[in-house]
Amino acid sequence: MEKGRILLAVTGFHPQRWRELLSAEREVVLEPDGASDPSITYAVVWKQKPNLLSSLPNLRAIFSIGAGVDHIFADPGLPDVPIVKVVADNLTQYMTEYVVWRVLDHHRQGLLYRSQQPKKIWHEPQQRPAGDISVGIMGLGSLGRAAASVLLSLGFAVNGWSRTDKTMEGVATYSGEAGLIPFLKATDILVVLLPLTPETKGIINYGVLKELRKRNGLGGSVLINAGRGRLQKDADILRALDDGTLKEASLDVFEVEPLPKTSPLWGHPKVFVTPHAAATSDPVHLAPIMLRQMDAFERGEKLDNLVDRKAGY
Ligand code: NDP
Ligand code: OXD
Repeated sequence: MEKGRILLAVTGFHPQRWRELLSAEREVVLEPDGASDPSITYAVVWKQKPNLLSSLPNLRAIFSIGAGVDHIFADPGLPDVPIVKVVADNLTQYMTEYVVWRVLDHHRQGLLYRSQQPKKIWHEPQQRPAGDISVGIMGLGSLGRAAASVLLSLGFAVNGWSRTDKTMEGVATYSGEAGLIPFLKATDILVVLLPLTPETKGIINYGVLKELRKRNGLGGSVLINAGRGRLQKDADILRALDDGTLKEASLDVFEVEPLPKTSPLWGHPKVFVTPHAAATSDPVHLAPIMLRQMDAFERGEKLDNLVDRKAGY
């Protein structure tokens, strides 16, 4: 069977490096040749233009450049072909590093020390063992589980919340709507690693933050969101920080990205901002995985890491 051609439809990422790496083995085009290019078999995408994919009559699979696929579902004319998301050691490692970094920084009072240093304040707040703190991970998927296992090895108590029932040794698991409040009430540091779907949009709101455990060794609850910005209500986070519902937050994602320069989150003393950089898709690692999947597909094998279209992730 002839090797299928790839359409690279990438907005926001630099497509050049992806093109170089994918074209080592297959023909890659950046724009389809006419409205209904029959020569394209695969699309490798990030925020593709609406209705572009539905114009390709022989498209057989869509590959997301990221683990999240909400950017694909935003296309009103999305064709009914398999969608593959990124699951890769390299991306998982980056996200684990981010989560562990942020959890440890809040746990070890990093924001407080950084505020004390310019004022030359020599003050040590009370120190607590990791075992006194429970980290609750919303989204116990590939990224959530990997972060959970490293946090466990550091001695934190870990809770996990997912859509369907999940088990993981050492982790107290909760699921579905019925499990949400008990999960929050048992959580001091909330780590959000959910996909953005119609069910999860806006889930990180004031009402949810209010349910987090209050009396804990940290001196207040903490939010870390590295899932998607539209999972959260920026205004509710600010309200929760300002009235003490939240002690601190680390935010990698925002309702509007880039975060507008006028957003009070930028200058907020209790907020640590990163520019959607928790786990970057590195084409050097990911392009070969995609190419191997295309080869296997053409040999008649099943595609891995398929998106469940009904669930939306
Ligand atoms: P997975 O698909 O492996 O896992 C998603 C998890 O979320 C699953 O545990 C799933 O439950 C749970 N979930 C989904 N919907 C709901 C719901 N309605 N209620 C409760 N739980 C729900 O995804 P990944 O772990 O690979 O990635 C998670 C997200 O991280 C991505 O979708 C993306 O948005 C974000 N991301 C952000 C990056 C960044 O740089 N900031 C980088 C990479 C990813 P179940 O187990 O039952 O299916
Ligand atoms: C992803 C991302 O979904 O980088 O992979 O946000």
